[in-house]
Amino acid sequence: MNVNRRLFGILSSLTSVAVAQSARGAMPIEGTAGPLFIATWPFGLPACKQSLVSLKAGGSVLDAVEQGIRVAEADTEVDSVGVGGIPNANGVVQLDACIMDGTNQKAGAVAALEDYPHPISVARKVMERTKHVFVVGQGAKDFAAQQGFEKQDLLTPQQREKWKQWLKENGKEVPKGSHDTISLLGIDAERRIAGGCSTSGLAYKLHGRVGDSPLIGGGLYVDGEVGAAGATGIGENILRYCGTFLICELMRQGKTPTEACIGAIERIARGDRKKPADLSVNFVALDKQGRWGAAGTDESFVAAVVTNQEAKIIKPEIVR
Ligand code: GLY
Repeated sequence: MNVNRRLFGILSSLTSVAVAQSARGAMPIEGTAGPLFIATWPFGLPACKQSLVSLKAGGSVLDAVEQGIRVAEADTEVDSVGVGGIPNANGVVQLDACIMDGTNQKAGAVAALEDYPHPISVARKVMERTKHVFVVGQGAKDFAAQQGFEKQDLLTPQQREKWKQWLKENGKEVPKGSHDTISLLGIDAERRIAGGCSTSGLAYKLHGRVGDSPLIGGGLYVDGEVGAAGATGIGENILRYCGTFLICELMRQGKTPTEACIGAIERIARGDRKKPADLSVNFVALDKQGRWGAAGTDESFVAAVVTNQEAKIIKPEIVR
């Protein structure tokens, strides 16, 4: 489903939606910092709503992030995350995810995970049940089985047909917008911060290819003292600059979340000697004060923000 259709569906189902003109200068929430959740793309909205429900039910902000991302992973209509994700060039769905807890700077990640629909939860188990941070491929699959996760066929009949068509067309270039990732960040009323990131990655990617999403500092970074940032877009353009770590460092230097996202985009464009419009890099961020921000280079990029007061899709700063 393309981004516009998703957006339309979500907008029409909401009773109270505000589409803000700009994320720049979003004001701090008075009083406490949170709860506040921000996520990439329209499918981030139901995910963030679930995060708030989980937090209100007594879960930690880490639980809330995991539960929110699981909503997108379980939704077969979301063709870039979890079940129903676009397969790689071999017709295999390989999932990447990471999760990070700002209360202790712990993190867990999995990449190229096959047959298990919730890589975010497997990543969390890596964080909590092993001495390691990152487990990949067959090792990740073995670990998921050992932890008792349920297997599922991730390739839907629709995605199989589209992949076959792509093969028939000799692997013609995949149009922009055919990949997107959920990055979801949260802060609670005590200013505890967590984040997660989950994707099936670039459509028809090389078997075994890993993008930015499961990389700590690439697709996601959480700094419990400063804030958090998450990414979506062409992983190769994000991971070479440690994009989300860079955003956290820019916030540490005093930039607002949106200014920091723009700063990262400008740094990548400068380094690559390209126009931002040619990069497909998009970010969401929040800081310890409870301010959120977002910026991207894709015209179609939107983000979702959920607090106690509102649930809305915002149009971030677009840098071209
Ligand atoms: N940002 C997702 C990927 O490039 O795999």
